[in-house]
Amino acid sequence: MTTNQTIDTATGQAAPAELSTERVRSIFSTIAKKYERFNAVSSFGAYKRWLAGMMAQAPIARDDEVLDIAGGTGDVTFAVAKAKRPARILCTDLVPEMLEVARAHRADGEGGEVPIEFAVVDAQAIPYEDESFDCITMAYGIRNMPDRARALSEMHRVLRPGGSLVCLEFSTPPNAAWRGLYHFYLKHLIPFWGGLITGDREGFVYLGRSIKAFPDQEGLAALMRDAGFVDVTWKDYTGGIAAVHVARKG
Ligand SMILES: C[S@@+](CC[C@H](N)C(=O)[O-])C[C@H]1O[C@@H](n2cnc3c(N)ncnc32)[C@H](O)[C@@H]1O
Repeated sequence: MTTNQTIDTATGQAAPAELSTERVRSIFSTIAKKYERFNAVSSFGAYKRWLAGMMAQAPIARDDEVLDIAGGTGDVTFAVAKAKRPARILCTDLVPEMLEVARAHRADGEGGEVPIEFAVVDAQAIPYEDESFDCITMAYGIRNMPDRARALSEMHRVLRPGGSLVCLEFSTPPNAAWRGLYHFYLKHLIPFWGGLITGDREGFVYLGRSIKAFPDQEGLAALMRDAGFVDVTWKDYTGGIAAVHVARKG
């Protein structure tokens, strides 16, 4: 039994883990096939720049084994394959429907020659041995997890000493005016775009709420340090709408 407190990822308030887990399963299994189009439209293409920033910061060598957590439809996995050509990538996600889309991209040739495997994995209970991977990548994953402390400590456990966690996530713009504009966009326009493109407006009301309830840059860094990571740094993108944190296992 874990002593970690679980939260409702839409509010940050204490709540049973099942509440958030079932909501996330329901949202992502419903929108899986339309998820990529939504990303492209709603971020005006910025998500590609953020992914490129993530790749620029990721310390991945040619002989590394990489674990992609919350890999979804495979965007990060295929970007790592292209930019870094590591020895192996394991692309994992909680929701099989998201991985089905990733598998279809793989069948179309995405990822090239790099060995890539896919597996359904809940990041809060990673079914791999200690010290199995050199690098963990995770984009827009941790915000959706009701037991973030446990997820981060699981990631720390399966990393080899000296390995890194590279995490891309929505964050908090430090400038108040930019933050206000962004929060207006999240509350009013994201549900509109999301509803139009995927038919699941409620899923995108959740997206905005979960982003607002998520810790800021320093708050996420503190969670990483609490899980045992050291040398935690981050870089803001688009005025802090997104941030890439890099944390090392000592
Ligand atoms: C916004 S998507 C991001 C997908 C991908 N990383 C990308 O950049 O496009 C969030 C993903 O997190 C996954 N997820 C949510 N909770 C999870 C958990 N506890 N363990 C693993 N994956 C989870 C969802 O199924 C979903 O595919």
